[in-house]
Amino acid sequence: MRIAVPKETAAGENRVAATPETVKKLVDTGNEVLLQAGAGVAAGHPDSQYTEAGAQVKPDAAATIAGADAVLRVGKPTSEEVAALPDGSILIGYLDPLTDEATAQSLAAKKISAFAMESIPRTTRAQSMDSLSSQATVSGYKAVLIAADEAPKFLPMLTTAAGTVRPAKVFVIGAGVAGLQAIATARRLGAIVHGFDVRPAVKEQVESLGAKFVEIDLGTDDAETSGGYAKELTDEQKAKQTELMSQTVIESDIVITTAAIPGRTAPMLIPTSVVDQMAPGSVIIDLAAETGGNCELTQAGQTILHNGVKVIGPANLPSTMPLHASQLYAKNVSNLLELMIGEEGAKNVDFSDEILDGACLTHDGKLKKDVESFAPPAPAPETETSEAE
Ligand code: NAI
Repeated sequence: MRIAVPKETAAGENRVAATPETVKKLVDTGNEVLLQAGAGVAAGHPDSQYTEAGAQVKPDAAATIAGADAVLRVGKPTSEEVAALPDGSILIGYLDPLTDEATAQSLAAKKISAFAMESIPRTTRAQSMDSLSSQATVSGYKAVLIAADEAPKFLPMLTTAAGTVRPAKVFVIGAGVAGLQAIATARRLGAIVHGFDVRPAVKEQVESLGAKFVEIDLGTDDAETSGGYAKELTDEQKAKQTELMSQTVIESDIVITTAAIPGRTAPMLIPTSVVDQMAPGSVIIDLAAETGGNCELTQAGQTILHNGVKVIGPANLPSTMPLHASQLYAKNVSNLLELMIGEEGAKNVDFSDEILDGACLTHDGKLKKDVESFAPPAPAPETETSEAE
């Protein structure tokens, strides 16, 4: 297969969709890899590393993707970039499948087989391709480092000749992949950590990391979808959660929020009236900033100072740790791509594979949501024959 890796074009995007390690593996298994010059530089990989790994380095995007069977990206292509894709090629990247129908339509019009990294099923078999998890791990870790840097205090307890320093209190709201990593990181730094999630199943994971789970009864034992995601709460439940959580928020030095419902605006859980009661110097890191924020004061990409409390809404945290974020993302992408490569590097997309079927956004001129499924229907279960027949 001829595989192209163009340079990312979104502002502030430092990641790259292939590393020298993944390129070498793809080349060793009979594929040809073309990389746009400079594509990996911001992630710590000069062109020379890719050349050593067997890639051909091309001067611009057009020369990189010309004649490609597959194009690997991190961010969603612009309309000009979609227009430049070879007709019928494979595209892998973040494609915003739940909210951006216009991009999906334009990909379908070019008969692109587009695979959205956001739609990889969260199954055990797909774990090595799950970039929502790999990148959320980076975000959760980095959120704590930013908070520690912004806070006017230590996180661990210190006993010194000049007196004892009490450990900081950290509250993590939303204990998915990012939240659990934030809890683990804050614990490693010695903070006292509390965690909360609407999915009760998470309690055990929070506690296994050495944090206390905040018990809040929202009056529902049905908080989780069959896919393991949180269900959206009713307005009444959200108000109850805000009320019952507010004391823990007020008493915390650092609050890290990660609460999200896929394809929806993030739930607003910390109103300004609660921030008003936090001690000056407290820090809120809102990882849901890009989907509306969990705090009323959050502005995506900005730091708001409110009565001495810093409310930080970081944008694209994985891109601030581009080397490891790219290492993990590129591995996720190449593992997915390997599912599409047949004998001797031939293109072979098998839609009966639940991972490829689940991740596919467009194929053969159609949008996935316009067809029942690209995969053939599962065979009907055999009915038992009664003895009378
Ligand atoms: P996410 O980024 O979609 O959401 C973050 C967290 O916010 C979730 O834990 C969710 O329950 C929580 N949340 C939503 N509304 C909330 C509210 N009002 N208050 C507090 N918390 C709230 O989640 P992520 O990290 O993508 O994980 C989603 C699911 O996928 C989880 O159930 C996780 O166990 C599952 N998963 C499965 C994997 C596998 O089997 N391969 C791998 C990774 C995740």
